[in-house]
Amino acid sequence: MSHHGIAPHGGQLINRIATAAERQEFLDQSDKLPRVQLDERATSDLVMIAIGAFSPLNGFMEQADYENVVDKMRLVNGLPWSIPITLSVSEEIADPLKEGSWVRLDDQEGNFIGVLELTQKYRYNKAHEAVNVYKTDEIKHPGVKVVYEQGPINLAGPIWLLERHPHPLFPPYQIDPAESRTMFQEKGWHTVVGFQTRNPIHRAHEYIIKCALEIVDGLFLHPLVGATKSDDIAADVRMRCYEIMLENYFPQDRVILAINPAAMRYAGPREAIFHALVRKNYGCTHFIVGRDHAGVGDYYGTYDAQYIFDEFEPGEMGITPMMFEHAFYCTRTEQMATTKTSPSGPEERIHLSGTKVREMLRNGQLPPKEFSRPLVAAELTKAMQISG
Ligand code: ADX
Repeated sequence: MSHHGIAPHGGQLINRIATAAERQEFLDQSDKLPRVQLDERATSDLVMIAIGAFSPLNGFMEQADYENVVDKMRLVNGLPWSIPITLSVSEEIADPLKEGSWVRLDDQEGNFIGVLELTQKYRYNKAHEAVNVYKTDEIKHPGVKVVYEQGPINLAGPIWLLERHPHPLFPPYQIDPAESRTMFQEKGWHTVVGFQTRNPIHRAHEYIIKCALEIVDGLFLHPLVGATKSDDIAADVRMRCYEIMLENYFPQDRVILAINPAAMRYAGPREAIFHALVRKNYGCTHFIVGRDHAGVGDYYGTYDAQYIFDEFEPGEMGITPMMFEHAFYCTRTEQMATTKTSPSGPEERIHLSGTKVREMLRNGQLPPKEFSRPLVAAELTKAMQISG
């Protein structure tokens, strides 16, 4: 492997952060440009595109890419891509905007944060997107709900992010793809496994991470801190839990903790592919896919997010998935295990659902040490009691 690490998706790391001169030009025109206000997801997508995390995308998808992604899980150029990246607005907002013009992009507070060179406006089929991407058109699926609630017109074209600001809550952990790639090289890591999570790390997570860490040089612990559904545990609480995990239960020189600013889609298998491609852009060579990755409710089969990798030729993804079976604590062997390594019967396996754990925490009960490290459990109980 070259000392430059693995190639970003499409070969080149995209950078759409405005230069000083571009920023000045945009600022000079800011009062004259038509405005579009971004929601939380679109804001995080804008950032993800700008920092190269969504390479090779340099903007919101045009119709041909959008339809190809929805129908075939590929961009028009043939590269694997599984999730539409779109800026959807109402007709009232779209109508006055002219193709070929610049649009000022504001965040939810009305701050000028980016520019879209509008190349295309198009209608799209929500039910078709829902069924292909999320495998359901049920409105109670949190990802489908977002699609149904957003506007009917997609605005497409290249974007610029006006400025890359430090993260308001987790500045030390804002490590963008260009920087993580450099860090991996400086550490001499030839192989790096990325770990996606939207939950506090419990023992099953820890187990599969450490199995991977027995094989590769380093771990890129990459929790998602963008929009999540309301009953997921808040990012600031989770970040404290990750810090506790690293301080107490991991070799610190083999782990980099960084935030993934993206929004969660809950698209299960399709999102596993997307999560892997994003981590490839951050420089990871490997990516962990466990049970029901990025799933919600019982919309997806336990291992569907692993099987979906078979739909691509081995070299096409450019990042190697590391698949793990459902892990649990085995009381017979007194260690974490899966059915691949444990002879135990069901009554000798301790695994709790997220719902069950949240219920225990709300009642002020500590989850058992077979499920959660005590220091993490204590932090979670504290947070749950404060928030109610
Ligand atoms: S996710 O939405 O980010 O996938 P979560 O944070 O729970 O949710 O999972 C992070 C990763 O750990 C995913 O790859 C998931 O498949 C895996 N995982 C979670 N729980 C288990 C478990 N008990 N056994 C094996 N893998 C698991």
